[in-house]
Amino acid sequence: MSDPFYVTTPIYYVNDVPHIGHSYTSVLADVLSRWHRLAGDEVYFLTGTDEHGQKVQEAAAKAGRTPQEHVDLTSTSFREMGKLLDLTNDRFIRTTDADHVAFVQSVLQGLWDKGEIYKSSYKGLYNVRDERFYSESDIREGRGPGPGEPVEEVEEVNYFFKMGSYQQRLLDHIEKNPAWIVPDFRRNEVLGFLRQPLSDLCISRPKTRLSWGIELPFDKDFVTYVWFDALLNYVSGPRGAKRADGNDWWPASVHLIGKDILTTHAVYWPTMLMGAGIPLPKQILAHGWWMADGQKMSKSVGNVVDPFEVAKKYESVGGAEAFRFFLMRDMVVGQDSSFSDEGMARVVNGDLANDVGNILSRIRKQIATQFEGKIPALPVALSGASAELKAKAEAVLAEVPNQMRLFRVSFALEETMSLARAINAYLEATAPWKLAKDETKRQELAEVLAVSSEALRLLLVLLSPYIPKKASEALSLLGGASAAPGRLAWGLLPAGCEFKDGPVLFPRLEIKKPEAEKPAKPQVKVPAAATEPVKSPFELVDFRIAKVEAAEDHPTAEKLLVLTLDVGELGKKQVCAGIKSHYAAADLVGRKLLLVANLKKAKLRGVESQGMILAADDPDGAVHLLSPEGEPGAHATVDGLDHRPGQNLGLEALDPVVLEIKGGALTFEGKAVTAGGARIACAAVDGARAH
Ligand code: MSP
Repeated sequence: MSDPFYVTTPIYYVNDVPHIGHSYTSVLADVLSRWHRLAGDEVYFLTGTDEHGQKVQEAAAKAGRTPQEHVDLTSTSFREMGKLLDLTNDRFIRTTDADHVAFVQSVLQGLWDKGEIYKSSYKGLYNVRDERFYSESDIREGRGPGPGEPVEEVEEVNYFFKMGSYQQRLLDHIEKNPAWIVPDFRRNEVLGFLRQPLSDLCISRPKTRLSWGIELPFDKDFVTYVWFDALLNYVSGPRGAKRADGNDWWPASVHLIGKDILTTHAVYWPTMLMGAGIPLPKQILAHGWWMADGQKMSKSVGNVVDPFEVAKKYESVGGAEAFRFFLMRDMVVGQDSSFSDEGMARVVNGDLANDVGNILSRIRKQIATQFEGKIPALPVALSGASAELKAKAEAVLAEVPNQMRLFRVSFALEETMSLARAINAYLEATAPWKLAKDETKRQELAEVLAVSSEALRLLLVLLSPYIPKKASEALSLLGGASAAPGRLAWGLLPAGCEFKDGPVLFPRLEIKKPEAEKPAKPQVKVPAAATEPVKSPFELVDFRIAKVEAAEDHPTAEKLLVLTLDVGELGKKQVCAGIKSHYAAADLVGRKLLLVANLKKAKLRGVESQGMILAADDPDGAVHLLSPEGEPGAHATVDGLDHRPGQNLGLEALDPVVLEIKGGALTFEGKAVTAGGARIACAAVDGARAH
């Protein structure tokens, strides 16, 4: 029976240009949509652009256009991104669309009529970039959280939605529905936020300050706060469409969002809906952050990953489809990940060319030369290696839906790729190229080619949500097989159909030899002393204070925790730490640790780790983290020894740096290690080694 699936992406701000972050959420929504359609579900997929607000008004004025002209122009690049990435969205909503504007006004009028909105004077710290008021505690040195745009004090009369009155109802909802916010640690973040009193939400801006917005239906001197307007797109978007059973599409099955917009989606949005008497979305999935080569992306560094450029650069190996595949393969949903050319080469050459491409060319060649291009009939009863391959394919068919249901797309893709590896192993073991040389083995050869063709067909159908064009081109070679709903079962390849010849569909990426290595750009100011010879291996290691912002269990590795660390000037880092048997994730949040910040990135069971945290162990096996006291980002130094910026290190570089606990604090060669002006405490016994 068809299960309706309604998925949304955030609507993107038109003052930015599309980048890998937007591409990722959009492709994730598209892959889930395609998967559900394949599984026979009815799907509605909504994306679009967020077009009102102060930044747009300012940018339009600067460009000498009206705001409407400006957004007509700037929203185009997001539609273009949709075409490039082959998104199958049902609507591209713009918050300037007339039906959306009318809907927002009708919700506002309803809330006003019910007494859910009131007028009051408000003084606060406003951040134009985020279009949000922040509280004092969010502000550091006059700048808001996140990218840290300046805030300005603003006092004005405004309209407020009684958000605070829904605090308990929202808490109850989150507590009763453990899977409402995924992953789990994001749910804990929201619960933590809701432990503080929830204030009411300012939902208007006076036209004297901002005119580019939806006018309040009950006061024409004000426009609607941009988030109040934007969030309602999720309900207004599919209102013109109906499900096959005649019902509305709302509530959404899942909102896909980035972790930075969790509060607006998991607090503002549900309380708005409660106020308006509209059901809540069924789930909210917050994904992690994309970086570039392990660094935060920023326009000033010039490392923002542009999907159009990536598609062009990798055109010879599928362009945007290779990018789609990489995005889904590389990011464990919920965790951070990093884009790199090496990463692209790994999936293009490893997964697509070696694994999938090889199967295709091996089978095609044998069928062409041995069976005049006709796929032999698939025997009903199979035994030995053939039966094992069929069982493997069926196990994958059973597991992929489970992973998809939990939005664990990279795991679903890993399952799928395990089928590719099994087909190659089957071909290695049965060696059809050898069977072909022996006239008495015709029957066996026919079976091997039929079984592997059928397994290949299933592999391609399973890959079709990720690489729809390539998969359908490859399927059309296989006797016109397709990725239509209902094709996910063994034995559907018609007997005697043709295995057509065609171009190489999964070519390898020719990797150019790297140019002579350029000196690495120092990430921190080089002290004058850096020109002097290195006095000790200690100087090569960048020890920093890091504060744990989030901690959660590694999705598959039993002993690992995945920590999100604030490292001050170095930004955020994600680190996997083997301390799960000694520390509970929840107890680590807010704690300061000592981090080795300049290690080469590593992947630990699929999750990127950008450093190592230090701990010392007692002889009885108890493990104690180091507890520095200073500000995140502060260096740890030893009298006369400071860090020399240089290349990232391999783990072996730490071997000569022997760190010992003495008198409850960290020492190196008998001298105290300090950070932020204080010794670094540790509860391990004297003589315990920190590593
Ligand atoms: N307009 C709001 C959303 C309103 S939804 C009712 C907005 N727009 S945005 O363009 O700034 O961001 C859109 C999405 O891109 C967010 O989910 C954000 O998390 C995501 N990303 C922006 N940079 C990102 C990365 N570097 N990596 C992954 N996603 C990131 O917020």
